[in-house]
Amino acid sequence: MRSCERLLDDVVPDLIRDRWPNKCDFRQRSRAKPGMTKDTMHSTPPPRTYRVKSFGCQMNVYDGERMAELLAQQGIAPAPEGEEADLVVLNTCHIREKAAEKVYSDIGRLRREDGTAPLIAVAGCVAQAEGEEIMTRAPSVSMVVGPQAYHRLPAMIADAVEGRRSVDTDMPTETKFDVLPARRKVGPSAFLTVQEGCDKFCTYCVVPYTRGAEISRPFNDLVEEAKRLVDAGAREITLLGQNVNAWRDAGGRGLERLIEALAAIPALARIRYTTSHPNDMTDGLIAAHRDIEKLMPFLHLPVQAGNDRVLKAMNRSHTTASYLAILDKVRAARPDIALSGDFIVGFPGETDAEFEDTLKLVEQVGYAQCFSFKYSARPGTPAATMDGQVPLDVMDERLQRLQTTLNVSQIAFNRASIGKRCVVLVERRGKHEGQWLGKSPWLQSVHFTGEVAIGDLVEVELVEAGPNSLSGQLV
Ligand code: SAH
Ligand code: SF4
Ligand code: F3S
Repeated sequence: MRSCERLLDDVVPDLIRDRWPNKCDFRQRSRAKPGMTKDTMHSTPPPRTYRVKSFGCQMNVYDGERMAELLAQQGIAPAPEGEEADLVVLNTCHIREKAAEKVYSDIGRLRREDGTAPLIAVAGCVAQAEGEEIMTRAPSVSMVVGPQAYHRLPAMIADAVEGRRSVDTDMPTETKFDVLPARRKVGPSAFLTVQEGCDKFCTYCVVPYTRGAEISRPFNDLVEEAKRLVDAGAREITLLGQNVNAWRDAGGRGLERLIEALAAIPALARIRYTTSHPNDMTDGLIAAHRDIEKLMPFLHLPVQAGNDRVLKAMNRSHTTASYLAILDKVRAARPDIALSGDFIVGFPGETDAEFEDTLKLVEQVGYAQCFSFKYSARPGTPAATMDGQVPLDVMDERLQRLQTTLNVSQIAFNRASIGKRCVVLVERRGKHEGQWLGKSPWLQSVHFTGEVAIGDLVEVELVEAGPNSLSGQLV
């Protein structure tokens, strides 16, 4: 059963009730029904054009694409560049306070001079976490729809046209994937969500509450969707999940078996996956980096901090030693693998010495690229009420030091690539006349000039390196 009832009753009952005392009662939220009327607005003509704006992680980007396809199926066209859309979907992120608050300024900006606004739908993780609160705070919003319910948008739009506002933060047992229209047209590098949700409950994080319990999409559905993506133009597929390496099918097959099946699709050249959790980094998946040529040599494996006391307080359930041991195994399987991670500085109680441990870990690993964030207290999460909240100026300073260290590591990684020849997947035109942009196997952005087309896989010699990109020459 895919619902928050499962989350509440079977998986971690006391955990959730304790951790979200009243802010986010999923049992209550899950009762919201599509088209549930809250109050009324003016009726409006059916929208002819839409715009979907996605924020946050790649899973939101994927959801945004699926919503766009759904709206197109309803006969609503994408709004031409520079023109106002009749319907705007804000596909939001709740991970940090700034991201969550952004939705309200975005809603404000949609207001026209005469005080009217287009039809506005708030989707994504802020929709899931704040639900009806959005309706109260933002009267111009007519639809609030959570990440597991957006397949019901057409009914909500019909309501909105008649002037009825609706909230749907249900986590239904029928999955959106079974009813969404098939993929038609995608770029050379496409996303495919294979897993959703999280059971890990890191003490700082909202994702288990906004995305629900871990579920894996069925093997055959995924192979089918991958084939459609390839037919629609994809040469590379990135498998997505909040904990993508927790993907298992009903028969117990792990992610490496899915990767193996996708690698058998002839016109698919490259496979990637993100984001992984250290606890789910199995030997089978590590071996896939050695055995499956189409699996690119890149691994995003967030550690969050380099100190074991902090990791324990974060409820990360790995230590720095167990994390490093995984990286050793991965490097043994695929020596040229590029490593990436996420870091949080200023977790409650983090001392200067504990932060220094994070810098040491970064120096030891030699990351190719990383994301780093200041800790942001999220309402209802255990860490938000922990003692020792770190002052903003201390977090600012730590973040700056961490990012300097990460930059050194990233530049070193890029410089070490100079002189290498590699295959680049051409993704788009660059800023300059005749310039193209693509990705190396190690996920570095590479720009070069020459006679190529989007979607080509071309051999390039890497000749110059900056912190965020490399320049290459066609071989
Ligand atoms: N499931 C993935 C990441 C999901 S969120 C994992 O566990 O690795 C992406 C990143 O946002 C996290 O890795 C973490 O570094 C950051 N993040 C999550 N909650 C945060 C918070 N409250 N404050 C600051 N950063 C946070
Ligand atoms: Fe959040 Fe990732 Fe931890 Fe899950 S594993 S709670 S998504 S940081
Ligand atoms: Fe943000 Fe939700 Fe993704 S909170 S990071 S959009 S899972």
